[in-house]
Amino acid sequence: MRTDTPQAIYLKDYTPPAFQIETVDLDISIEAGFACVTASLACQRNPAAADPSASLVLNGEDLKLESVRLDGRPLGQGEYVLCADQLMIHAELPDSFTLTTVSTINPDGNTQLSGLYRSKDGYFTQCEAEGFRRITWFLDRPDVMAKYTVTIHADKAQFPVLLGNGNPVGAGDEEGGRHWAKWEDPFRKPSYLFAMVAAKLDMLEDWFVTKSGRKVRCAVYVEPGKLDQCGHAMAALKKSMKWDEDVFGLEMDLDHYMIVAVGDFNMGAMENKGLNIFNTKYVLARPDTATDIDFQNIDRVVAHEYFHNWTGNRVTCRDWFQLSLKEGLTVFRDQQFGMDMHSAGVTRIQEVRTLRTAQFPEDAGPMAHPIRPASYAEINNFYSATVYEKGAEVIRMIHTLIGKDAFRKGMDLYFARHDGQAVTCEDFVAAMQDASGLDLTQFKRWYNQAGTPKLLVRGAYDAATKRFTLDVEQQYPATAYEKRLEAEGRAVARGAYHLPLVIGLLGADGRELPLRLAGESAAADTQRVLSITEDRQQFVFEDLAEAPVPSLLRGFSAPVVLDYPYSQADLTHLMARDSDAFCRWEAGQRLATDILMAGVAAFQAGSGDTLAWVPAGYVDAMRALLGSAFAPGGDPALVAEALMLPSEVVLIEATEGTVDPDAIHAARLALRRHLANELKGPFAAAYHELKIDAPYSPEATQAGARALRNACLSYIAEVDDAESLALLQNQFDSANNMTDSMAALSALAQFASPARDAALERFLAKWKDEALVVDKWLQVQSTSRAPDTGARVRALLDHPAFDIRNPNKVYALIRAFCAANPKHFHAADGSGYALAADAILQLDALNPQVAARIARSFDRWRKFDTQRQSLARMALVRVQGHDKLSRDVAEIVGKALE
Ligand code: ARG
Ligand code: ZN
Repeated sequence: MRTDTPQAIYLKDYTPPAFQIETVDLDISIEAGFACVTASLACQRNPAAADPSASLVLNGEDLKLESVRLDGRPLGQGEYVLCADQLMIHAELPDSFTLTTVSTINPDGNTQLSGLYRSKDGYFTQCEAEGFRRITWFLDRPDVMAKYTVTIHADKAQFPVLLGNGNPVGAGDEEGGRHWAKWEDPFRKPSYLFAMVAAKLDMLEDWFVTKSGRKVRCAVYVEPGKLDQCGHAMAALKKSMKWDEDVFGLEMDLDHYMIVAVGDFNMGAMENKGLNIFNTKYVLARPDTATDIDFQNIDRVVAHEYFHNWTGNRVTCRDWFQLSLKEGLTVFRDQQFGMDMHSAGVTRIQEVRTLRTAQFPEDAGPMAHPIRPASYAEINNFYSATVYEKGAEVIRMIHTLIGKDAFRKGMDLYFARHDGQAVTCEDFVAAMQDASGLDLTQFKRWYNQAGTPKLLVRGAYDAATKRFTLDVEQQYPATAYEKRLEAEGRAVARGAYHLPLVIGLLGADGRELPLRLAGESAAADTQRVLSITEDRQQFVFEDLAEAPVPSLLRGFSAPVVLDYPYSQADLTHLMARDSDAFCRWEAGQRLATDILMAGVAAFQAGSGDTLAWVPAGYVDAMRALLGSAFAPGGDPALVAEALMLPSEVVLIEATEGTVDPDAIHAARLALRRHLANELKGPFAAAYHELKIDAPYSPEATQAGARALRNACLSYIAEVDDAESLALLQNQFDSANNMTDSMAALSALAQFASPARDAALERFLAKWKDEALVVDKWLQVQSTSRAPDTGARVRALLDHPAFDIRNPNKVYALIRAFCAANPKHFHAADGSGYALAADAILQLDALNPQVAARIARSFDRWRKFDTQRQSLARMALVRVQGHDKLSRDVAEIVGKALE
């Protein structure tokens, strides 16, 4: 029985590898029921190693070793030792030698989906972070970079497509209906970027000519019959290639760039050199199968993996503690791409929402960690919202502080210095510092400190001197992370952050006022970047003829919680007049949060239904907001975002003290219904006005109109009468695209009614053969507020449409229930917690990475009342007490129970 958190490894213990591997020659033969892997590694003693006589210790996991040869000589017993997950070579080793191992592996039984595994009718790989050791014995760490060749053999009829990294250099037939193909990657790479595929696949091909004239073959491989769903991914790839040339001067460096889609995949996608492997979710799309959001996500993930070719592959990570070096930077790059391709304001708002829904809770819970953690037990648990999303915010802050041009120079310098190397976050920051001349020493605290800082800002206007004074204070209390370090007796240095606070000041008429700081001779602009470096700072603005309303943290310039005592009038003013799209949206969210918090208190006191907590002007502000979409220059997509009340998850995070999920749910629903009733006419008018007659396109303008129209629909659905039901039913019946179809289905699914049951049944009957659409069918049910949701989710676990071995299905049914349906997950009787615990245990035996992601649902258990806490603790203890628990899940529940 396991009782505590598994052994951690520490960044401070990093040492260079004892050997380097120059070349890797792999021969992988897919046989019936197993695969045989021969690996020849040209090794060299590493002059930089700490111990010049260290023996060679290779990683391996679930491998059956058949033989070992040293420079061709078979090694006997006594010359090597096999122990748990390691192969140690004790034979005398020259400074350079070739080690050849032959191993067999069982890809058909590989339910972890790490290493080489079978999915449906083919074989695929996932090697990041430590999957290569599940293919062959290796120094499986990113600072060992080698040149790879691979020869793949398989049955020709079953697996006609054989792919590897780099360039195809040979192929042919073999006896018994088999064939082979050889691939050679001209670039050195770490083992986590290795990939191979043997499958039956259809292929879409296109060409991209780089700015220097290299003709790149682009190919998207998908399950047979799905070629009509690859066009969007291909277009996204070509747009990404062009964008990286235009914005960063970075060119594709290979002749082949392949994307392979696979239905069983733990994460989103993987940037293997020249051979990306993608979750089908981020490749396949057709107007009738994918929503506008799906199309956008495909753009972003295709771009993300492509951008990794430079930020990740050409320059990689020295060790896994540096994961944010490639992930934070690459997310930042895909965000910038998204802002250029779609609406910049809406894109930014959606990112902030993700950050608040996923990263802020993480940073406030037991798994809190800085973007570069100092320790971990299982690295797969650190592919986190913090490393990715907050990591991108940190890069964005550098971009804001030094400016776009200096940032580009910094990138150029980073590549000039480190192309072909495995480096650290310091190396990146040093390039940015050297290129810009800005001292980033203090800024580096973002890499070492966990937690979301709070920025307390207070403003005071003095009419006599015409001065407006802003006082800024930062607070950064220790998180679970620092407390753990302290308990381990490890020093925790904490100090003020360096961050950009982008601001403007609005006059009563909504005009942006010129900003002149005390001591300056003239106003520089109407927007400024204030550099915050101290615990407390003061900024005095001169020559202001009236009391301004400050517009703070424009564009969400830093990942902080802002505390400013805005009045409801200020917020309504900002919401209507601020020139910054994010701040307009933010003012509305802030206003709604203030109102909803009062509503929560009212519901707890038994007076929620009176709606006395909704201020008089709120409905008018929302009416004006809706109307603004139709005014000249109006932006329907932005209005759609602003009409959406903060989610229950965001409200849970915003709660100080004990969370009452029922009162939060009740208040939010009451406010939605109130708006729906009061604005019934305007919502209906907008809905009809926004009808789109043009053929479907996922591009921003049309998608924005659709988003607003469907936001109206979701309010109309709250008026639970025959008329609104008819409207929903009509949209569901006549929709010619998945966005509209899902919007209607999701509205119908909120009510336990015959109309819901009929719609769900018809939807499944129509789409039962499209796996990704079946996922939507599961998720629309697992995220429903209908009273029978808990029972339905339990029942769906046994439905033929569900498959616990498929991560997408698990995420749609179980993870969405736990993460996005707080009312039911936190059911007072503990049924949601029990469901999660059962699922975690069942999954852990199959796929620990996926099980650990479900286990994260308990992160915030201590925020709830004592009754819920004891039920959550029971569920966690039950999981922790299971024997043979994976390191992945043990780390999560261990930390949750600390
Ligand atoms: N590097 C991939 C990406 O962000 C993520 C792969 C992570 N996979 C894993 N099993 N940890 O694009
Ligand atoms: Zn990535």
